[in-house]
Amino acid sequence: MVAIGLSRTQLQVTEGFASKSMELKWVRRRTTAKTLHLHNAKPLFPIYISTDPRHVDPQHLRDLFADCNRAFSTRPEHLHIRKLAVALSHSAVVVSVFCNLQHLNAVPNHNSSIADFFVPVSPFRDQLVGFGRAVSDYGLTASIYDVMVIPSLQRMGIGQMIVKKIVRMLTSRDVYDISVLCSENERLFFKACGFGDDILGSTTMMYTRTAPLTAPERE
Ligand SMILES: CC(C)(COP(=O)(O)OP(=O)(O)OC[C@H]1O[C@@H](n2cnc3c(N)ncnc32)[C@H](O)[C@@H]1OP(=O)(O)O)[C@@H](O)C(=O)NCCC(=O)NCCS
Repeated sequence: MVAIGLSRTQLQVTEGFASKSMELKWVRRRTTAKTLHLHNAKPLFPIYISTDPRHVDPQHLRDLFADCNRAFSTRPEHLHIRKLAVALSHSAVVVSVFCNLQHLNAVPNHNSSIADFFVPVSPFRDQLVGFGRAVSDYGLTASIYDVMVIPSLQRMGIGQMIVKKIVRMLTSRDVYDISVLCSENERLFFKACGFGDDILGSTTMMYTRTAPLTAPERE
């Protein structure tokens, strides 16, 4: 059974498991010339946002990295399934987004009704379409990593939902010093999510492995 409220909606019972860590949201599909004549408004379809790291299959996460072209910006060894599983289990916050492929590929028509979307959802069957995580000391600071949304669902607000969810979970634990490592291209997205330049002027440096880890003793 799926329960719908007026604003925030909790998925109460899903196929195979009951979980309060899953939330149902509705996003708007991009209107295409094909669908415009069928609807005055852009059609909505459901996505499910989970904060339970156990819902993420590391294999599916690796596929998502590849779909989002993130495999090239991340060191290949970090995409090893075992490493991904370790990263998931040690992240302070994991937010994943699932979508029923039936909804994803459906072209809405005059007969589509809201009831069509109330099929049971399962993170173990439906597609992982978005992801984001944060690491934190839970005292002072946190950093956000790996925010991504499959290309066909980009610019529908899903990325922003993921970041907002991560930030809400961190600030609810009183962690406000939240940073994100992002490329120049991603700055506009994170700006839209409320991020900006560090007021202390801090910048990020990455370990390059060029310096020997065992320095010779100085005389
Ligand atoms: C970056 C990414 C996560 C954004 O997700 P998304 O769901 O498409 O973003 P949203 O729809 O929530 O965008 C929210 C706002 O951010 C800004 N924004 C998002 N993508 C943008 C882009 N490519 N160029 C400019 N502004 C952008 C816009 O202001 C947008 O609002 P608008 O669509 O009303 O104009 C997604 O494009 C992606 O997965 N990219 C590849 C992976 C990646 O680079 N991840 C970041 C690493 S941490």
